[in-house]
Amino acid sequence: MDDTSKAPGRAAEHVDESRLWQRHMDMARLGATPKGGVRRLALDDNDNKARALLVEWGKPRGFTAALDPIGNLFIRRSGSEATAAPVLSGSHTDTQPSGGRFDGIYGVLAAFEALEAIDAAGIVTRRPIEAAVWTCEEGGARFPTGTMGSSAFAGHRSLDLALADEDGAGTTVAEALKSTRSALPGVAERPLGFEVAAFVEAHIEQGPILEAEGKTIGIVTGIQGARRFRIEIDGEDGHAGTMPHRKRRDALKAAVSMIHALEALFDDPNDVVRFTIGRLVIKPDAPAVIPGHAMFTIDFRHPEEKVLARLGDQVAGICAANRRGCEVKVVEYSNTKPILFSGLVPDAIGRAARRQGLSHMAIHSGAGHDAMHLFHVAPTGMIFVPCWRGISHNETEDAKSADLAAGARVLAEVLVDLANR
Ligand code: GLV
Ligand code: MN
Ligand code: MN
Repeated sequence: MDDTSKAPGRAAEHVDESRLWQRHMDMARLGATPKGGVRRLALDDNDNKARALLVEWGKPRGFTAALDPIGNLFIRRSGSEATAAPVLSGSHTDTQPSGGRFDGIYGVLAAFEALEAIDAAGIVTRRPIEAAVWTCEEGGARFPTGTMGSSAFAGHRSLDLALADEDGAGTTVAEALKSTRSALPGVAERPLGFEVAAFVEAHIEQGPILEAEGKTIGIVTGIQGARRFRIEIDGEDGHAGTMPHRKRRDALKAAVSMIHALEALFDDPNDVVRFTIGRLVIKPDAPAVIPGHAMFTIDFRHPEEKVLARLGDQVAGICAANRRGCEVKVVEYSNTKPILFSGLVPDAIGRAARRQGLSHMAIHSGAGHDAMHLFHVAPTGMIFVPCWRGISHNETEDAKSADLAAGARVLAEVLVDLANR
């Protein structure tokens, strides 16, 4: 076995910034949009190609690949103890419908770069280290439920429910996974869920703090909680020219009243509450027809559970009070609790950042991540790097090559550290 006291630093030295950047650009071609972003929806052809590319890149180094029943992909570098639980690192390859080149894929490519660097440094770790691609992190982009792969892996949502999810065209996850499997010939199958020694997820911050503070590394302290609702409103279609206003049951007008009242409820002078209506659909969606149906979504997030409860529990009542003669149904389709990272993994990230002389700070995550599920099965932490103006879920999302490489260097050192415990 190697001298592990020197090994972590050696791994970081083998991170190759230009290779890491080039791989981002290679991945960005899979689903490239005219405005320079990426549309790579979960389990679509481009998402399958991204997985296949990783498997190919791993072959020259002898990394092996395995796919589980929900399509999570694991690229493994062996350790000296074949049966020891692996250390995992990774994120997601899927994007929002008009997403950027770094959200998700950075965590996958940083993990892969760390594996390559550790290999190039000739380091033998006790535990295997695996780069993970978690299926369908982006909820509502293609399939309704986000963090699909990591929540099934952690046992937070049943495999059967996940496989039955349908996209807008009625294709189930189970059907979509058939193409994913055939895009990965020779990749071994692995059962869902296994013992994990530790999990580390690298990600762009997706917010403006690191850039504003001039820091390269964010040591993530936790992830805020989120409650998501779908509001279905049924009124009555009618003629725009003839139906008197007092007789109308206009679902859009009801939606507007509800949204107005909800805006007031969620208004926060301290700007901590996050309240977003990202989807509003009306039917029949024709200029001369009073809309008889409306649907909108609420994405509400906050770091504190009591605030999530106090505000979120008022949504149904506010919608009922503003229904303007229509029927309203409020469905809460997702509820994730806030979590806090501490101990083994954040401590290892802090040590690596300090040893490498990188500017760093503690930072809380506003965005959700696969790490919030892995947190419940293994010691977990996250590394953030800055992104341009904090812009994300946007085709113009950007990040500096040097920052991406710095995050990968910290990750490489942390993975060696964790894999020798
Ligand atoms: C993940 O992309 C989220 O919406 O937080
Ligand atoms: Mn995202
Ligand atoms: Mn992401």
